[in-house]
Amino acid sequence: MLIVGAGGVVGKYAIALAKRTGAYVIATASPRSAGTVRAAGADEIIDHTETEVLDAVTEQVDLLLNLAPIEPDEFTALAGLVRDGGVVVSTTAWMPSPDDADRGVRSVVVFVRSDAEKLAELVSLVDEGVLALEVTRRIPLTELPALHAEAAEEGIPGKVIVLP
Ligand SMILES: NC(=O)c1ccc[n+]([C@@H]2O[C@H](COP(=O)([O-])OP(=O)(O)OC[C@H]3O[C@@H](n4cnc5c(N)ncnc54)[C@H](OP(=O)(O)O)[C@@H]3O)[C@@H](O)[C@H]2O)c1
Repeated sequence: MLIVGAGGVVGKYAIALAKRTGAYVIATASPRSAGTVRAAGADEIIDHTETEVLDAVTEQVDLLLNLAPIEPDEFTALAGLVRDGGVVVSTTAWMPSPDDADRGVRSVVVFVRSDAEKLAELVSLVDEGVLALEVTRRIPLTELPALHAEAAEEGIPGKVIVLP
């Protein structure tokens, strides 16, 4: 599978879960996040700041997962890397996932939803060491406005636990 935008928190979970199913994972990551993407288990890394992803992927993939804020045209072009009968998955809900009915390529937009059973399954994967939670900071609730300001300014890697 190809994961575009694998350098964030969602990407790292996606890589770990995909590797668990036995998938071969090609992931995009800039130098900033290449180390963590490699540590999460990616088999191949494409630096999207230096290389055209379309040129770097030489074989078609079964599944494309997009997590990055790319342009719809770029997403449609990337969907061309998916083999006939494959799947395009996206979490970027503001942009539809491209499909290609003529080639049997379907598209799925994944949205977070409360599911205690699924959450318990994921927690047991954390306990087993399959998934690693990247908690970067613990802050008191009073610092929440500053955290939001920081997120808006430069983005925050990993998860922050806010203690009421
Ligand atoms: N639907 C839902 O329920 C749900 C839930 C959570 C998150 N989301 C969405 O899922 C996505 C991933 O979440 P996240 O928290 O992991 O986000 P994130 O931390 O922003 O990670 C996105 C990654 O995409 C990379 N990127 C940026 N522009 C790119 C480009 N042009 N080409 C390739 N990669 C590019 C970034 O840079 P680097 O390569 O430099 O690392 C970054 O690592 C976000 O769009 C978020 O809004 C949806």
